[in-house]
Amino acid sequence: MNVFMIGGGDIARHHGRAVVRLGGKVTGVYDVSEKMLAVYTAEFGCPSVAYDEIEAYVQQADYVVISTPPTKRLDYVEMVLKHHVPLYMEKPVACTMDDAMKIKDMADKYDAKIMVGFAHYYRPAYQKMLELVKTGMFGEPVDIAFSRLSPGFGFHAKNLGASWRTDPDLACGMTVESVSHDWKLITAMAGGFETIACNYTGTIASVPKFDNHTSITARLRSGGIVTIAASWACDIPTCSRAYIGTKGSIFLTGEGMFEFTKLTWKTEDMEYAESITFNDSYDHATGDVIFYAHEAFQDALKAGREFDTPLADGISALVYSLAAKRSSEEQITVKVPDWGEA
Ligand SMILES: NC(=O)c1ccc[n+]([C@@H]2O[C@H](COP(=O)([O-])OP(=O)(O)OC[C@H]3O[C@@H](n4cnc5c(N)ncnc54)[C@H](O)[C@@H]3O)[C@@H](O)[C@H]2O)c1
Repeated sequence: MNVFMIGGGDIARHHGRAVVRLGGKVTGVYDVSEKMLAVYTAEFGCPSVAYDEIEAYVQQADYVVISTPPTKRLDYVEMVLKHHVPLYMEKPVACTMDDAMKIKDMADKYDAKIMVGFAHYYRPAYQKMLELVKTGMFGEPVDIAFSRLSPGFGFHAKNLGASWRTDPDLACGMTVESVSHDWKLITAMAGGFETIACNYTGTIASVPKFDNHTSITARLRSGGIVTIAASWACDIPTCSRAYIGTKGSIFLTGEGMFEFTKLTWKTEDMEYAESITFNDSYDHATGDVIFYAHEAFQDALKAGREFDTPLADGISALVYSLAAKRSSEEQITVKVPDWGEA
C-alpha cells in the first residue's frame, strides 16, 4: 500500500519500516524539522513535502499515518479525512477533550476510518493473554494490577534533548501519553471504568506539566478494582500486567515497561501454574511491535472490518487519563463520564 507520513520522527521511522515490510511504499513525508526530514527521506528514498502540498499527497495515498506531537494534529486530521483516506493516528489522540471532540466531529462529518496506534494491543503475547481471559477461564475481573516501571523520557532529568515531551508548550506527561496504552489493554479484558483516583508527579522541576510517575487506583463498571503504577524514571526496568479473576489469575511479565516476555496463569482447577515464554520485546524489536499494528490495520481495511482500536478507544483513553490527572490535581476520586464506556 502507498502510505503518506505526517510527522517523521522516531516512531514514524518504525511506521515506514512496517509499511515497507508489508510490501508497500512510503510516498512522502511532512515534518516541521528539516533535520528529521533529512533522516527520513534518506532512509525511505521518498520526497519531503511542503505544508501546502500535503493534500495532494494525501489524495494519492492508500492511508496516512499521523505521528506528530498530540497537540499538533487538528489541521492534518482534517486534510486527511476530507479526502476520505483512512488514517492511522498515533496515541494519544489529543491532550484535551476540546481537541478530541473536534476530531470526533470531523470523523462523524466525513464518515472516517481511523485506527488509533495502541500498538501493544496487537502484540502476540498480549493477544494470547486476551484470548485466554476471553475464554472465561479466570472468571470475572476482581483485581487488574498493572505495574510498569523503567527508565524513560526524563530519566534522572538527563535525556531531555529537544523532545516535544519535555517542551513546556507541548508536554502532556506520561499519564496522558503512555498510560493511554494501559487503558486500552485493561478495557479490552475487563470493560470500562466507573471511578478513577490518582497521584502523579514529575521529576523535572522546570516542566511541571511533564509527569513521569503516576499511581492510579480505579474501579471497573463491572465492580472489580484496578491499580496502575507507571514510571519513566525508575532505575530497574520491570513490568507485570495481571488479571486476577474469580476463578484464576494470569500475569504478563518482563524486564522493561513494555517487555512482554512471560505469560503465566493458574486457575482453581489447575494443580500447577503454566507459562509460555515469548520473544515479544519492545526494547529490542520496536519495529516488530509497530509492524503487528500495521498488519492489523491493513487486514481490517482489506476485509472492510472495524478496527480493534478505533477512535472511540482513543477518546475513552483520554477521558480516563484526564480523569486521573484531575484526581491528582484536586485530590478527589473522579466519576468517569458516560463517554468513558470502552
Ligand atoms: N504506539 C507506540 O508504541 C508509540 C511509541 C512512541 C511514540 N508514540 C507516539 O507517537 C507520537 C510521536 O512520538 P515520537 O516518539 O515519534 O516523537 P518524536 O519527537 O521522535 O517525533 C515527532 C515528530 O513530529 C515533528 N513535529 C513536531 N511538531 C510538528 C508539527 N506541528 N507538524 C508536523 N510535524 C511536527 C517533530 O519534528 C518530530 O519529527 C506521539 O503521539 C507518541 O505518543 C507511540
